[in-house]
Amino acid sequence: MTEAGSPAPPRPRVLVNCAISLDGKLAYAGGARARLSGPDDLRRVQALRAACGAVLVGAGTVRHDDPSLRVHWELLGAPPGREPLRVILDSHEGIPERSRVLDGSRPTLLATPRDSRGRYPAGVEIWRSPGTRVELAPLLGHLAGKGVERLLVEGGATVLASFFRERLVDELTVYVAPVLIGGASAPSLLAGEECPDEARTIPLERTGVEPMDDGVLLRFRPRPRAASAAHPL
Ligand SMILES: NC(=O)c1ccc[n+]([C@@H]2O[C@H](COP(=O)([O-])OP(=O)(O)OC[C@H]3O[C@@H](n4cnc5c(N)ncnc54)[C@H](OP(=O)(O)O)[C@@H]3O)[C@@H](O)[C@H]2O)c1
Repeated sequence: MTEAGSPAPPRPRVLVNCAISLDGKLAYAGGARARLSGPDDLRRVQALRAACGAVLVGAGTVRHDDPSLRVHWELLGAPPGREPLRVILDSHEGIPERSRVLDGSRPTLLATPRDSRGRYPAGVEIWRSPGTRVELAPLLGHLAGKGVERLLVEGGATVLASFFRERLVDELTVYVAPVLIGGASAPSLLAGEECPDEARTIPLERTGVEPMDDGVLLRFRPRPRAASAAHPL
């Protein structure tokens, strides 16, 4: 339900998945790609992609990591099957023409503001958003209209902040790698606005913990903010 009491418009179930260091970093200094997952976690992520109708990242991730966002069926020991739609959020800076998500090998949807001058190869579906940035709720409505029931959001830090701040996340899985990265320029899980106090935190409920590779896999779902209880100390 919306705050006005009307039913919420249909949208896919949104699953967020990422890998972090023990100190919460998604990447190395300046955003350089960090390969934090071990073999079991890599396989888990491939299975997750295969189970979703679409997989989404922001332009920053495309510029830093150049991911293919394909399913690596060979890691699953399975014959190639249906692949998720690759969805990229690109506001203004654009993504390199030779990005792997633009290689035409699998369907890609580029979500960009209406006034954006970005140019993309033929074969890439363009979805124009109202506003000066890609608005997530209408985009999710568009994906639901295309039959996407589960959307996997893989990052990066700015996109994750938008999804969490707009309360559009249903599940979060985080692989925590046994490594510390440190420094101020390595991005942590959530970018976006500053958090001055508890009122602006995003409360989560733990739904699972399991050892994975040499690290640990944590599962959460967002929970409503509880009335603030007196702190014991
Ligand atoms: N460890 C992991 O699991 C993992 C996974 C993915 C990424 N990463 C890391 O994350 C880093 C990239 O993160 P990032 O924060 O720089 O970039 P990002 O979150 O991937 O992309 C952010 C960009 O998306 C575009 N955008 C359009 N509409 C948006 C909206 N409503 N909300 C948010 N973004 C929107 C903007 O593009 P414009 O720039 O065009 O304005 C924005 O700058 C890299 O270091 C990468 O290695 C790590």
